[in-house]
Amino acid sequence: MEEKLLAGVLNEILRHKVSLDVAFKRVCSSKCARTSEERERLYELSRAFVSDYVKLLCAAGKRVRPKVLAKMWLAGSFEVPPDPHCQLSVPQWLYDKMRNIMGEEAAKLFSAMSKRIWWVRANTLKAGEERVRRKLEEEGVELEESQHFPYMFKILRTPKPVRTLRSVREFLAIPHDIASAAVVETLRPSRGERIVDACAAPGIKTSLIVALAEGDVKVTAVDISGKRMNVMKHLMKKMGIREGVIEYLVADARRVKLERHDKALIDAPCSNTGAISKDPGLRVTLRPGKVEYYSGLQREIVANISKYADKIVYATCSLMPEEGEEVVSFASRTLNLEPLWPSLPLCGSPYRGYDVKACRLYAHEHESEGFFIALLDKV
Ligand SMILES: C[S@@+](CC[C@H](N)C(=O)[O-])C[C@H]1O[C@@H](n2cnc3c(N)ncnc32)[C@H](O)[C@@H]1O
Repeated sequence: MEEKLLAGVLNEILRHKVSLDVAFKRVCSSKCARTSEERERLYELSRAFVSDYVKLLCAAGKRVRPKVLAKMWLAGSFEVPPDPHCQLSVPQWLYDKMRNIMGEEAAKLFSAMSKRIWWVRANTLKAGEERVRRKLEEEGVELEESQHFPYMFKILRTPKPVRTLRSVREFLAIPHDIASAAVVETLRPSRGERIVDACAAPGIKTSLIVALAEGDVKVTAVDISGKRMNVMKHLMKKMGIREGVIEYLVADARRVKLERHDKALIDAPCSNTGAISKDPGLRVTLRPGKVEYYSGLQREIVANISKYADKIVYATCSLMPEEGEEVVSFASRTLNLEPLWPSLPLCGSPYRGYDVKACRLYAHEHESEGFFIALLDKV
């Protein structure tokens, strides 16, 4: 039964290029587990199996069917060759690329990315930080306040999965990675501003924009996906955002025409190479071609959105310089946008060899997803 489930989840990821969570939901429908505890156990099992995908391929030495990989994994009957990318279970091209950029540190980075650190944000639109903290503690959660942002908490221990906690279901606490919060902090939303969020759905950052501006802000939320935008509308209501604060626009940020705004956030679609700890399915689906594709798309989005605001935060959850440093170099060369140092309390250096002012957040340094954050100012 477990073998069938694991093979089914991997098959779904391989065939449809979906995340682990989506694949698990499709394969483990209502009949898959009798209790929520059993379902959670099967989810964690699938997560561990998919995380070991590259290890298993290395051990098999050739492409084999998901069913065979699941059997090998459950029996523990495989030996992982000593090659670093095999040991770290990341595609070889990705390991080699990061090794070229970071040297020995690449191994530390990928090793940190094998563990997911959960952060939650107190939804200050609904309750103060202290109250949210107490509510979580009453549920038996052990947490640690972030040294940088008072509304962010790192989960140290939880009696049940974070997404099933009462405080999370009631939208008092919102699962939100610290690097993603740092993106919005870089934008410094203030009361009375008009802000365009160019790739907004499902709105996790939009809701922090509204919270930091204490609800007194106008956000134009643009996203190309009508489906994701519908999810966003529902979430924003649940999070306590008043009607009229957000204007929703299903449109292509490469072409959309807007009025002028004070600031813009471009949380661009990307290869997701920084999000491996959140979605181990990326170990299966990542290909170098994705990086090239998104790099072009990101440049087009920056070129269009920069017509409508003088201050822009550009961010991606990608480890690739083509989607970070190189997009900013392009923007300063051809779009008259000057990069400024983000004034962020947690700011790792961008990659050596690029003359670019920006922050990179790393799993092994910041206990976060991998993010690139730049602040651009119209010259
Ligand atoms: C990284 S996600 C955004 C996450 C969101 N900012 C948040 O914090 O919840 C990127 C988003 O860009 C959208 N997208 C992709 N191509 C786009 C385009 N050409 N124009 C506008 N949105 C696009 C995707 O639908 C996706 O929702």
